[in-house]
Amino acid sequence: MAESRETRSALHESLGFGLGLRHVHLRDVLEGSHDVQWFEALTENYLGLPGVGPGPSLERLLSVREKYPVVLHGVSLSIGGTDPLDASYLQSVKKLIDLVEPAWVSDHLCWTGVHGRNSHDLLPMPYTRDVVRHVAARIQKVQESWRKPLLIENVSSYVEFPESEMTEWEFVSEVVKSAGCSLLLDVNNVYVSSRNHSFAADSYLKGIPWDKVVQMHLAGHTDRGDLVIDTHDQPVRDEVWALFAEAIRRAPQAATMVEWDADIPPLKIVEAELMKARKIHAQVNRADSSAVLL
Ligand SMILES: [Fe+2]
Repeated sequence: MAESRETRSALHESLGFGLGLRHVHLRDVLEGSHDVQWFEALTENYLGLPGVGPGPSLERLLSVREKYPVVLHGVSLSIGGTDPLDASYLQSVKKLIDLVEPAWVSDHLCWTGVHGRNSHDLLPMPYTRDVVRHVAARIQKVQESWRKPLLIENVSSYVEFPESEMTEWEFVSEVVKSAGCSLLLDVNNVYVSSRNHSFAADSYLKGIPWDKVVQMHLAGHTDRGDLVIDTHDQPVRDEVWALFAEAIRRAPQAATMVEWDADIPPLKIVEAELMKARKIHAQVNRADSSAVLL
């Protein structure tokens, strides 16, 4: 999709600091007053798909939308899959986009199933030039179908492929460049994968196109020593905050949000995590405007 003037300004005007919209917080979000600038809603919660648990109703999402900017975040696009793109899914999301008018839509750089069967997992791909071409062509089709900017998110991973011809950060960069899309950088996923695959997270941060980073995710993980799992069930860990400080220095304009998807605490606890992100952003960008980056 050619980048229109509206698209450019939507992507380059930061939304600031937001949260994932969760069912348990809805009443609080709608009735309370919060220092949250925007919400990210899970696309599949509003499509009536089989196998997806009950979420907030579309009516309530539209009530949130009246008060806050909203972006849509999906888990079913399977942009790296080999099945054809699911036309009925694309159509349903397009209808949702027309109703919600999100600033952008995001999904993951992964595949989720094959032969029509959904694994409900975000599965990594081999990092090859062929896969870059395959994914980039599919991203372009999706952007044309939705007439909205698509942000792709780096996933956490637990396996690697011997066929890979490049590092993950080179792969992500090549996809973004070839597809002409933007990047949702999940800082926790960078950390999780760096531990599981023994690479330096700093190398990842040095290797991605920062001018394409429009949004960042922060989340908690479970550290089992020889395995780190992306559980989203606890506060953001110090090692991820340290990476975030480096990331937000490189992309101070990126909209930032906290994901908390299991053992979800009261909204004020998640808001406190967001306030921490805001504080780090202010500290890093106030104190360090002349520092030499990594
Ligand atoms: Fe994420």
